[in-house]
Amino acid sequence: MKVKNIKSFIEFYQNLGTTTSMTNSVRGNSTNLLYQDLAANELEKVPILKKYNKNQSKQKKLEVLKSSLKDINCDLKDIATNLVFSDGNIDSEIMLIGEAPGAEEDKQGKPFVGEAGKLLDKMLSFIDLKREKNFYVTNILYWRPPGNRTPNNQEISQCLESTIEHIKIIKPKLIILVGGIAAKTLLKSQEGITKIRETSHYYSDNDKTKIYTKAIFHPAYLLKNPIEKKRMWDDLLEIDKIISKNNIRR
Ligand code: URA
Repeated sequence: MKVKNIKSFIEFYQNLGTTTSMTNSVRGNSTNLLYQDLAANELEKVPILKKYNKNQSKQKKLEVLKSSLKDINCDLKDIATNLVFSDGNIDSEIMLIGEAPGAEEDKQGKPFVGEAGKLLDKMLSFIDLKREKNFYVTNILYWRPPGNRTPNNQEISQCLESTIEHIKIIKPKLIILVGGIAAKTLLKSQEGITKIRETSHYYSDNDKTKIYTKAIFHPAYLLKNPIEKKRMWDDLLEIDKIISKNNIRR
């Protein structure tokens, strides 16, 4: 580790302040989900996304996608307070995808604005990534599962087509998958997040899209497991390296 990095690492440790555990109502542990449960033949072909004109602006396409979500057959929609679509810079080359909104996100209608979201922003600021300028953020699920429970496979599959469409519209050069649910779902992996985050991957859909992808621990998991701060730091350095090496705009 370079001297500059050691200094930043110590600062990172002190700043995160994640030395105590949160209550167990916080999500971030996805060990009960196996990708095989989401095998293609089990995916519900539910959402019929409104088709937009290819020449429309990104902003317009996102509006069309967002409005098409009300037609998705997802039970969560009826019990959530707000649809939580996205936040950040739509023209950024970096797209973060998390799991599902929590209580604060449900209240504000914005992703990652609760305690875990604040930690995520703080961590990313250590590699000069600021939400309003350098990245775009969304979730696999657009509605909060009741009581913050982990989303089930049916709910995930009901939203998957719109997430794939969402990525197509944003066209990021780097995808950061936040937590096990997003990582397993979009990388079609049965491994746990601890393993998936060890290497970089490519996200690919059926349309030949191939995008550099890195998975990280969910910040809610980090709040409950401060011991993982070291591995999180390593992942941030790896993301920083990928950005610089591949000329990805910050
Ligand atoms: N956890 C997530 O995965 N997404 C949010 O938006 C908030 C908490």
